[in-house]
Amino acid sequence: MIELQRKLLGDKVRNDAFAEALRRVIVPQESIIADIGSGTGFLSFLVSKLGAKQCYGYEVGGIVETSRQLAKRNGIKNCTFFRTHSTDVKHPPKVDVVVSETLGNYALEENILETMEDAKRFLKPMGLLLPAKISQFVCPVTTDRLYREIDVWLSVGFGLDFSEARELTMNNMYVKTIHPEDLLMGAEREWDTVDFSISPFHGSGFSTRGVRSKKNLSIRTGKQSFTVKKPVTVYGFALWWNAELVPGVHLSTSPFEAPTHWEQIFLPLLQPVKLASGSTLELTLTSDTRWQTKINLQWSVRVLDATKKEVSVQRLDMRKGYIL
Ligand SMILES: C[S@@+](CC[C@H](N)C(=O)[O-])C[C@H]1O[C@@H](n2cnc3c(N)ncnc32)[C@H](O)[C@@H]1O
Repeated sequence: MIELQRKLLGDKVRNDAFAEALRRVIVPQESIIADIGSGTGFLSFLVSKLGAKQCYGYEVGGIVETSRQLAKRNGIKNCTFFRTHSTDVKHPPKVDVVVSETLGNYALEENILETMEDAKRFLKPMGLLLPAKISQFVCPVTTDRLYREIDVWLSVGFGLDFSEARELTMNNMYVKTIHPEDLLMGAEREWDTVDFSISPFHGSGFSTRGVRSKKNLSIRTGKQSFTVKKPVTVYGFALWWNAELVPGVHLSTSPFEAPTHWEQIFLPLLQPVKLASGSTLELTLTSDTRWQTKINLQWSVRVLDATKKEVSVQRLDMRKGYIL
């Protein structure tokens, strides 16, 4: 637990972005804020230093005790910390802003959608959710660097065939640092956007773009296709996100931006795909972050030749990678 908090607090890109976003929305002596997933209390303490009237921190983990001690040590009197999951809070005090840094390496893996959807009931009318928007990006990976790192099974040696174990390994997501030169140039695509800022009091879910939400907000599917002009081999996909904290203040895990502790996500293919010039790679990506699932990603690819004839198909699913 403390190791996660240590990494977060050491991430200056993250800390500065949240500090700037809070500075823009807090009205000194007036604003009342809820900090959902308050951890060490860092964001609550910023809120206090920015002059807010009151901050309520909600933290499900034992780190909440440390946040109380740190508040005392820093002479901060207007932050109250509750040890609870936000969804278990029966009658939350109404606030002007809910801030929640529950962003994962894969953006939605810490249930930020489900937390924010529930957090609408913490808000006064016209209240704000921060982050305001999360956009997710995908791009084919065309270098074998990460693939070779993961795919150890074929070189175990001793005359042993580890094919089944290899298949489990490939059906998984990996937190890796991905560089711009690992990517198919110019092929990055926004495959999912959730806008928390649009009418939080209306409708049953947030505004979404580029996505078919199958059963509910927590199951999100995006389709993208990539047609290549030159022959290239694709080893998997890179995922990253951009959070608009408030309009004009962004936090991004893009390989094209300043690095953060979140790095990027690599989704390998079962087998690398060799694309001839003119052929198309169709990707269908689904994420399921319902409470009971926590996180599952599925990614499938179809390769079409230049005449649009299907050449090959691969389907990967993190559930295949679980050994129960
Ligand atoms: C990424 S940390 C952020 C900590 C702190 N806000 C910061 O920015 O330094 C997220 C924390 O949120 C907690 N958490 C996640 N979802 C929560 C929820 N819905 N209610 C309460 N705590 C939650 C986790 O236990 C974790 O400590």
